[in-house]
Amino acid sequence: MTEQQLDDTAVYRNLLLETGAVLRGETQSVSIMSTLACLVKHALPKVYWVGFYLNTGSYLTIGPYQGTLGCLRIAYDRGVCGRAFRERAVQLVGDVHADPEHIACDEKSRSEIVVPVLRKDGSVYAVLDVDSHLPDAFSETDVRYLQELVSVYLEPYI
Ligand code: SME
Repeated sequence: MTEQQLDDTAVYRNLLLETGAVLRGETQSVSIMSTLACLVKHALPKVYWVGFYLNTGSYLTIGPYQGTLGCLRIAYDRGVCGRAFRERAVQLVGDVHADPEHIACDEKSRSEIVVPVLRKDGSVYAVLDVDSHLPDAFSETDVRYLQELVSVYLEPYI
């Protein structure tokens, strides 16, 4: 593991503890998503935008988020978010300029990670989109801990 990944691991371990304390007993998905967006944004300085796009039937529609103004709707066949929806799989994009599917809501965006939020039947409830102005900002450490945040604190309540 690199030094950066060790630092990130420590940050995420604290973030998991803090999230558990803040969300204790909370079962409302909107409250949980809002709180997760806030806690992730403030724990990780490399992140300028974090939020949820909800599967509302025909589109992914903006949900709770923190950061600069996000796109309001993303079609299923567009964006890194759309690909996470279609593939039901985490997307780790080190250079968004090299990804033809990427949608630039903020022109300074350089890298991102998108984690699907799955219902018990395997269908997609939402995607968690985390964006950075830095190139290659995210690693398997982010994948692991963002998936853990989603699976422990959100997926049981959707
Ligand atoms: N990164 C996304 C677009 C949404 S925003 O950047 C908030 C994508 O390409 O799916």
